[in-house]
Amino acid sequence: FHVDWDAAAAEKGGHSSFMEKEILEQPTAIASTLLGRTDAEGALVLDELRISEEQLRAVTKIVIVACGTAFYSGMTAKYAIEHWTRIPCEVELAHEFRYRDPVVDQHTLVVSISQSGETMDTLMAVKHARELGALTISICNTHGATIPRESDAVLYTHAGPEIAVASTKAFTAQITACYVLGLYLAQLRGGSYAEEAQQVMRELHEIPSKVETLLAGMDRVREIARFMADTRSVLFLGRHVGYPIALEGALKLKEIAYIHAEGFAAGELKHGPIALIEPGQPVFIVVPGPDTPHGLHGKVVSNIQEIRARGARTLVIAEEGDEDVVPFADEVIRVPQAPPLLEPLLTIVPLQVFAAELASAKGLDVDQPRNLAKSVTVE
Ligand code: AGP
Repeated sequence: FHVDWDAAAAEKGGHSSFMEKEILEQPTAIASTLLGRTDAEGALVLDELRISEEQLRAVTKIVIVACGTAFYSGMTAKYAIEHWTRIPCEVELAHEFRYRDPVVDQHTLVVSISQSGETMDTLMAVKHARELGALTISICNTHGATIPRESDAVLYTHAGPEIAVASTKAFTAQITACYVLGLYLAQLRGGSYAEEAQQVMRELHEIPSKVETLLAGMDRVREIARFMADTRSVLFLGRHVGYPIALEGALKLKEIAYIHAEGFAAGELKHGPIALIEPGQPVFIVVPGPDTPHGLHGKVVSNIQEIRARGARTLVIAEEGDEDVVPFADEVIRVPQAPPLLEPLLTIVPLQVFAAELASAKGLDVDQPRNLAKSVTVE
């Protein structure tokens, strides 16, 4: 009796790649990152931060520093943190922050985001922030890594080990952790801020099962990806929190499928990128839910109409029940309904699946793309 056994295949748990496995682990990654961070009444408890409430109440500015996918999670978090706390929040690429003269003092909270906790650029930004007297919190997925050790405090993402070079479950866990931190700061402000924080936490707890449902319906996305294996260029449009998702969707496709991909803010189209639209150009559009304030949903639907009129092939990611997009969409990829600020935890999923499937259709090594390392420990 003979059994063929391959250690690497066993670790992938029957999946074709670690990336596939990690995409599917997102409901657990998000749920684990939320776990144990609320008390019986639903109030946020972050004793692990080891920073006093007084110090956090004195924060007048937040600066998020990160690279790559972690940077896009920070971009997403900025929308939410400013909305919930009314504390100004900037997001900066760690390697840029370090080499300019940032305005940072002891009332600035510098939040670094890093899956590995070893990214040199992010580490050096944290050290720089500390030299300038800022309070530093690390959002990290790796226990005991260098960046959390060099920070005043750490809030771990509990996504579990991420092996694939292309980050997926760490990204959604990073957004979740940033949201937990933002909601905690809102709670410290008290009054209506605290009430909203508890409401949002309840909504966040519903996200893992929505991601589960979404993941169960990805067959058409996979089909589209395989059909597009020879595509040379894909554009991604998004607005509000959908903008960083467009950037992250483009990054996934670049890094593992080696396809030229660009993400744009949908409002920027007429300021240049619309010139790229020619017949057959595939464009993913991340549509804000109909409840997004300021009529942004309608504005993005108009963008879809404009690019479709110029021949683009429109691949539309829209909420269940959003019928406004249907007349202008070549494909509609549905995501479950969620409050606007929580949508990124859903809308990124089909873009991750698309990139992984397309890379594998091209016969590429999905987990170990050329020229890239999982952790960039040099400048
Ligand atoms: C993600 O898919 C990339 N491989 C890369 O952008 C990564 O997110 C970046 O290098 C930051 O890594 P870190 O989270 O470990 O700091």
